Amino acid sequence: MKKILITRRLLRACEERASKNFDAKLNSNDELYSQKKLIELSEGCNGILTSITDKIDEETINKLSDTVKIISNIAVGFGNIDLEAAKKRSIIVTNTPDVLTDATTEIAMLLILGAARRASEGIEQAKSSQWIWSHDFLIGKQLTGAKLGIRAFGMIIHYHNRSKLSATLEMGATYHDSIKGLFSISDFLSINCPATKETENIINAETLEYFPTGAIITNSARGDMIDDKAMIDALNKRKIYALGLDVYKGEPNLNPGYLNIKDVFILPHLGSATKETRTAMANLAIDNLDEFFKTGNCKNKVN
Ligand code: DGY
Repeated sequence: MKKILITRRLLRACEERASKNFDAKLNSNDELYSQKKLIELSEGCNGILTSITDKIDEETINKLSDTVKIISNIAVGFGNIDLEAAKKRSIIVTNTPDVLTDATTEIAMLLILGAARRASEGIEQAKSSQWIWSHDFLIGKQLTGAKLGIRAFGMIIHYHNRSKLSATLEMGATYHDSIKGLFSISDFLSINCPATKETENIINAETLEYFPTGAIITNSARGDMIDDKAMIDALNKRKIYALGLDVYKGEPNLNPGYLNIKDVFILPHLGSATKETRTAMANLAIDNLDEFFKTGNCKNKVN
């Protein structure tokens, strides 16, 4: 039976399945392993089931035991793993695409609505029992007819991608071959791209200037995409009307500059946090291990 290390506690049914398929080392206390501890615990294991909180950098990979042949990340993103270093050691890295699309889309929509309709301030007011209904109380921005990067709420859809999508995937959306083109028409921008060297700080002092004054930006992908200092500045100057974040740099430490801005609607990385989706993700990561141990390859390989 193959031996695996599971770095974080999974939902019970997923741990039971992993323990049935493999000789699995569980983390019942859900301790956040240091890199040193992760290396020690993976000694003699054939694979590791990792999560986004595990920083599997080059140094860690180089110290992993020779027995480790696969790192199966329970996430669609894999910015926490040094893919090149893994490749050099002939360790394959896999991810869990598609199964979290619906859950993360729900959170992306929640961010758009929460940011546009001043949900953070509304919640504070409701809890304070001090508010009085009036014609101009917490007036927000309506979505109808506004331009956004996702098809929803009767909005007009524009997008940027490295390449133009097929007509079936495009579903009538307008393609922009540059981020400048996209940002300059976006009343709303929803960031949904992977974190790479090219997308790091894609929202910065220069690109924020491209937006129409009063635009709303939401990020449900990875915090790396936003230069927080520039964003805080743009919010304070009212260039950007509101911001919705499910992810941010340095999680869980939020840049304190956001704390005093009323127009931010922030969640603690809840994109895939439903029972159905977390179960599907862990099961797909287990399937990836099974496939690799049986065939020596895996369709969800990313390196
Ligand atoms: C992912 O799969 O990349 C998500 O961010 C995890 O919640």
